Amino acid sequence: MAISRKLRQQMADGGWIRKMFEEGIALKKKHGERNVFDLSLGNPIVEPPEAFRRELRRWVDSTAPGMHRYMPNAGYAETREAVAAHLSGATGLPFTQNEIVMTCGAAGGINVVLKTVIEAGDEVVIFSPYFVEYIYYIDNHGGVPRIVPTDSRFMPDLKLLEEGITPRTCAVLVNSPNNPTGAVYGRDVFEGLGEVLARKQSEYGRAIHLISDDIYRRLVYDGGECPQVYEYHPATIVVTSHSKDLAVPGERIGYIAVSPRYEAREELVQGLVFCNRVLGFVNAPALMQNVVRALQDVSVDAREYERKRDMMYSGLVEMGYSVVKPRGAFYIFPRSPIDDDVAFVKELQKHNVLVVPGRGFGAPGHFRISYCVDDWVIEGSLPGFRSAARRFGLS
Ligand SMILES: Cc1ncc(COP(=O)(O)O)c(C=O)c1O
Repeated sequence: MAISRKLRQQMADGGWIRKMFEEGIALKKKHGERNVFDLSLGNPIVEPPEAFRRELRRWVDSTAPGMHRYMPNAGYAETREAVAAHLSGATGLPFTQNEIVMTCGAAGGINVVLKTVIEAGDEVVIFSPYFVEYIYYIDNHGGVPRIVPTDSRFMPDLKLLEEGITPRTCAVLVNSPNNPTGAVYGRDVFEGLGEVLARKQSEYGRAIHLISDDIYRRLVYDGGECPQVYEYHPATIVVTSHSKDLAVPGERIGYIAVSPRYEAREELVQGLVFCNRVLGFVNAPALMQNVVRALQDVSVDAREYERKRDMMYSGLVEMGYSVVKPRGAFYIFPRSPIDDDVAFVKELQKHNVLVVPGRGFGAPGHFRISYCVDDWVIEGSLPGFRSAARRFGLS
């Protein structure tokens, strides 16, 4: 066997998005590119802002010596200072470069954090529906995912959270705006989370970290806001990237920010830097660290995604689908009209519409639509959704 049994199993269980991607390729070959409506992937459709291109050109032309060498594993001091200045402005907290570690995207950053805080067998709480990679990231570092369901609006249920935290819990990992639901947690949610964590920390006499995956923070709609997590729990670690806010996921650039309010931050950051190295990332890409330094306040125009959200959401509601209106990110997570979400997804495929079954995110009975696609894909998918709705008796 070329690969381990465990990996083979993980690939079989966690391959829904890839499976749909492959189905899409087959369907496109058969029916032609423009006749298949692929809503399965979360790859930004908008182009990076002009300021990104400007900085990129500037740094590519630079002849500064040593630009392509190793640097400290935490990243360039100047870039970490720029991130810290941005965060100080946004939070009112005294961030310095000492709380910032540059990473290879949010995925790299989350792995670094988990490796740093997990003791073998420790539990990490995640809320379902969840970003499926979390399960594998936690497992990568000898941890055990502890899944706590959200309520009917996809908000954390604090009572269930309290029950889900055990003496083995080392962290609670949250993601708002959320993939796959588009839910944005309000201040009340974070206040409640902070209270539960404080109570459980003193009950069990150990630190329980709040890890916040903020990758969609700047994609918030309807004039809403996304609270800064640092306010609510001292042992807070935020992980984010420029994959979505600058639309550069292929460039693998992000960072970890540790709360300046966390007493043990010095040792924690030393651990993060060590893990960045020994996980084999070594450091975040040098060129990108230079490019994003001046772009900390720059972002793609979220209104473009909001417009696409409105197209998709109003279409589905009008057909009778049961949908919680997403307030951020670029996903919608409707209820499947039948319990068997895989059967429903197959029905949509008959109309050349590709979505991902909810069970791929730990929430059977739903399906995920990614609306970061061209308008013609959204428009072209609507007749398929309508036929499937009629078939299963929606009004
Ligand atoms: C919730 C969430 N976290 C992390 C990632 C990974 O982001 P990155 O490309 O910055 O590694 C994604 C990517 O889609 C995501 O949806």
